[in-house]
Amino acid sequence: MIIRRERAEDRPEIFAVLAAAFAGGPEPRLLRELFAAREYLPALSLVAESEQGVILGHVISTRAWVGTSQSLGLGPLAVQPGYQRQGVGSALMTATLAAANELGESSIALLGSTAYYPRFGFVPADSLGIISPDPSWGSHFMARALNAYTAGTHGQFKYAQPFKNH
Ligand SMILES: CC(C)(COP(=O)(O)OP(=O)(O)OC[C@H]1O[C@@H](n2cnc3c(N)ncnc32)[C@H](O)[C@@H]1OP(=O)(O)O)[C@@H](O)C(=O)NCCC(=O)NCCS
Repeated sequence: MIIRRERAEDRPEIFAVLAAAFAGGPEPRLLRELFAAREYLPALSLVAESEQGVILGHVISTRAWVGTSQSLGLGPLAVQPGYQRQGVGSALMTATLAAANELGESSIALLGSTAYYPRFGFVPADSLGIISPDPSWGSHFMARALNAYTAGTHGQFKYAQPFKNH
């Protein structure tokens, strides 16, 4: 398996993975809108591809804000159901963090399972001074400091515009 940036011809397979992983959820539509949004960052839309050239998973992070400082919002993350629990999601997460560090990003946040994301260094966002867009998300709204993080960067987290539609 390799992790690489998505290419235009991957899109049908990526949407198929999301449809299977999220079975009826709004995520494929959200992803379509993120691809078209100005907050889309090509360097942070990654696929996991098998040796046979099959797309096994995809993850995207888009421009977001903490107050007036740039941040990233991660998601959706999806792995093809037949290939889950084999390290594909972990490889996509690790590659995302490396790419975000390379881009000089300061922080990255997500809404997700507290059983999964802490292993990648995510902590409750409020412990980094990042205020959740929705207080009802509680500890499921998590963030991770990246290499360029400076402790003074506090404020309200604002996702890319398409997240508001879902
Ligand atoms: C969540 C998801 C991306 C994880 O990817 P993956 O390739 O299956 O995960 P990995 O193989 O890298 O990691 C497996 C580990 O994560 C745990 N894990 C996997 N999915 C989990 C979940 N939804 N909640 C909690 N833990 C989870 C497994 O128990 C396993 O732990 P272990 O190694 O201690 O047994 C994938 O299962 C998926 O696409 N699920 C459906 C869509 C989804 O829920 N996306 C995330 C939204 S927050």
